[in-house]
Parts: sequence; C-alpha cells; structure tokens
Amino acid sequence: MELIIFCLFIVFVVFLYHSSGKRPNTPPGPRGIFGIVLDLSRKQPWKTFARWAEEHGETVYIDVLGNSVLILNSHESILAALEKQGTNFAHRPTLTIVGELMGLDQSLPLTNYNDRLRKQRKMTHLTFNASSNPKHNELKQLIVEELIRTLNRKPDAPMSAFRLAIGRMIVGTTYGFDIKAENDRYIEDAEKIMEMIGPMLFPGHPVDLLPALKYLPRWLPFHVNAAAAKSLVVDMVERPFEHAKALMKQGLVRSAFVQNAMEAKTDDENLDYYEHMVKWAAVSLYEAGSDSTSAVLSAFLVAMTTFPDKQAKAQKEIDSVVGLGRLPIISDREHLPYVNSLVKECMRWHVPLPLGFPRRSDAHDIFQGFDVPAETVILPNLWQLSRECQNPEAFEPERFLSFTDPKLVDPTTYAFGFGRRLCPGKQFALDSLFLVVSSVLSNFTIHLAKDSVPFVPLATTGLIR
Ligand code: HEM
Repeated sequence: MELIIFCLFIVFVVFLYHSSGKRPNTPPGPRGIFGIVLDLSRKQPWKTFARWAEEHGETVYIDVLGNSVLILNSHESILAALEKQGTNFAHRPTLTIVGELMGLDQSLPLTNYNDRLRKQRKMTHLTFNASSNPKHNELKQLIVEELIRTLNRKPDAPMSAFRLAIGRMIVGTTYGFDIKAENDRYIEDAEKIMEMIGPMLFPGHPVDLLPALKYLPRWLPFHVNAAAAKSLVVDMVERPFEHAKALMKQGLVRSAFVQNAMEAKTDDENLDYYEHMVKWAAVSLYEAGSDSTSAVLSAFLVAMTTFPDKQAKAQKEIDSVVGLGRLPIISDREHLPYVNSLVKECMRWHVPLPLGFPRRSDAHDIFQGFDVPAETVILPNLWQLSRECQNPEAFEPERFLSFTDPKLVDPTTYAFGFGRRLCPGKQFALDSLFLVVSSVLSNFTIHLAKDSVPFVPLATTGLIR
C-alpha cells in the first residue's frame, strides 16, 4: 500500500516539477528526476554524491521532488557553508515522520537553531565541556575495568559489551545512575527507537517529501510504527529524568548533567519549561552519542581482525608506556601517539556519520555565487573528506603520525560536525574511545574466531553506519 502511495506521489510531483516556472541559479547537479530518485535509493548514498561531484563539481545541487538539496563534497566548501555562513545554515530539516509523528522534534539534533537550542547546548557544556573532565574520566575508567572483566568472561560478544559500556558512560554522566545490563529497559527502549528512526532519516520517507500524506488513515503501517515509537519516546524522556530527580533529592547524584543543569536554573525561569529543556537535552545525549561512538568501536574491531600488524604495533606501545600492571588512564594518552593515531584512523577509515547530521537553510542565501533557496537541506559528505588522502582504503594509523600527505585532514576536525552545531559530546567521545581501545589492546589480542567469515562493517542507508 505504501508503495502505491509512493508511486502516485512521484507521478504527482514529477508533474508539478515539470510545470513549475523559472528556476533559480542553483549550483550544478544531476537533473533527471527518475535517475536521482533511483540513485538516492541505493545503499551508501555518499558514494553516489562523490560520483556526482566528479561529474558536476564539488558543490552539487539536486531537486528531489520539489525539495532542494545541497551536497558539499570538499573540506573547503563544508567549512565555508557550515562554519562561515552564519546562522542561516545552522537549522535542521523538518522531519514529519521522525520529528512530528514519532515525537522527537524536541530533541537537540532535530531542533532548529533557536534560543531554546542555544540554552540547551549551553547546559550540555556545563557537564560535557570541551576539556576532559576528571570526575567523568574516573567513572569511565571504572566502567572500562568492568568491561575488561566482562570480556575476560565472555570474549565472543565484544560489540554488545562495548555498547553497554558506552551506554553506561553516557547515562551515568547524564542522569547520575547506572544501567547494569544490556537488557536494561533504558537501553532496550533506546535501541528500539534508534532502529525505528534509522531507516526513516535517509534518504527520506515519502511523508517527509510531501507532509500532507500524514493525513492518510491511521491504520497505515507508517502511522502505526510512528505511534509505537512515540510512546517509547515519551517514556524515554520522562522516566529516567524522574528517576534522576528522585536520586537528587536523596543526595545520591554527583555532578551529572541533570543536576548541573537544574542547579543552573535562575529564579526568573519557569520551572516546567526549564525541566522540559533539561529532560529533552538529557535524552538527546544518549540518542546522539551511543550509536555514533559504538560505530567507531565496530570499525576498531574490524580493523584489528583485518590488520594484525597494526594491532601488534599499538600493543607494543602500550606495553612500553603503561606496563602490564594497570589499565591505561587518560593522562597516558599524550604518551601513546600510535594508539591515538589508531583511533583517528578508525574514524577516518569508517567515518561513523558519513553525511553528518543534515542541516537546513532557513532563508534564501547566496553560496559560492549560486542561489540556495530557503528550506534547502544541506548534506556535508564527510565520507568524501575521509577518502581525500593517499591510499584511502588502507588502514594506516601511521598517516596521522607523519602527516606528510598534504590532502590528509584529521577526522576529529570533521567527524563531529561544525560551527554552531558542533557535537557537544566530542571530547567525551574521544576520551571514551581512547580508554576502551587502549584498555582492550592492553589485555587482549583481537582475532576472528576459528572458521568464521571475515567481518565486514555494515553499510546502511541511514545516518550512522
Ligand atoms: C564518535 C562519536 C561521535 C560522533 C562521530 C558524533 C558526531 C556528531 C555530529 C556529526 C553531529 C552533528 C554536528 C553538525 O550538525 O555540525 C553531532 C551532534 C550531536 N552530538 Fe555527537 N557525535 C559523537 C558522540 C557524541 C556523544 C558521546 C554525545 C553525548 C554524550 C553526543 C551528543 C550530540 C548531540 C546532543 C548532538 C546534537 C547537537 C546539535 O544539534 O546542536 N555525540 N554529533
């Protein structure tokens, strides 16, 4: 049924498209509407975008069924648009399914660049500040110690142990309580929500392309799924926040995000509205931080099983600097340049969000001499940046030690986004990744189980891979 609606919808929009009047002077890009829709439906659209860049130039513009999309395929154009172009390109696309129908429109990554978002981002900086926070690193180190014990007992499921460890770090720092197991309700609900929203984010559901479709009958599968996701979302926002508040009353929370944010409330701010901002910021931290950090760890596992010589080199460095009697701590990082480069190479080799988080222009703008219509979706092709170096498919942490390749860009300067929407969890993620990677390598040698098929990282059409 959804397929029929989608086909009718395409016919309708193609008609509108061809009957529309004069087009603005937008950047070059492919024009055939059926070809574009077909290309966008393929997996790994970032590769399609890179091909378009070869044909049309690094800044590509397409019109997808009446929706303007600007694709930025070079470091220069991404910086020019997302760091230097002011606030106009700092908004997010309106997502009818994920935002309105699933109820995530108040989450930080989907919010437009407005006063509320600025306040919420400021709140996150109180806890997830740019420089490594010693209190949080203590918590992370305890969690990593437990991770190593878990892997010793059960070495054959590293990814679920990693996900739990990252989840515990974020939840502990955000709400001040612990989650004990992979089947903890908080993690399960969060994962279900991510599974439900992932495929809706890219290349876009028909309802996002034509929002009037949301008035179709409620028994249609997209409505049923969205309603199920919405009730999970409401629960995810309210339950942990109420739990954290109860713990705070008993004095059991130590410097967590919700506590720091609530203490920063001034008398002239309305309590209900303030709490609304805090709880939505809190839930966004987990939803935005968990999968993205875990994606880097999944690339780490694949790289270590595929390139054992790189693993051995990192282990040798750790053994000589840290020794055998303890786990690495954050202050070891500056003495472990190879391990640091290995983490960077994991982020470059398999950039976790190949298209970043989409942005949107609020008003008409001029960019590189071209028109960018209001409401244009802007996609930075981070995957393309990650390939702009010598021998991009090879896993070579050494490239970040020597930096002799003039085209090479440090992935920590682009994988976390840009400018006003730069990821507020960047330092937190880098600290977590360093602790997990260095501690795992100091205790284990990772290899494929006997007779198992080589592990290939999943490539999806969603935002995170
Ligand atoms: C390797 C791990 C991570 C990567 C690659 C990553 C990447 C990103 C990117 C690309 C954006 C969009 C930036 C833009 O639009 O310019 C973003 C936003 C965001 N990230 Fe991260 N992130 C990671 C970890 C985290 C962690 C650990 C947290 C929280 C603890 C977090 C919280 C957020 C939030 C709340 C936003 C939305 C900010 C906004 O829209 O203003 N991220 N992240």
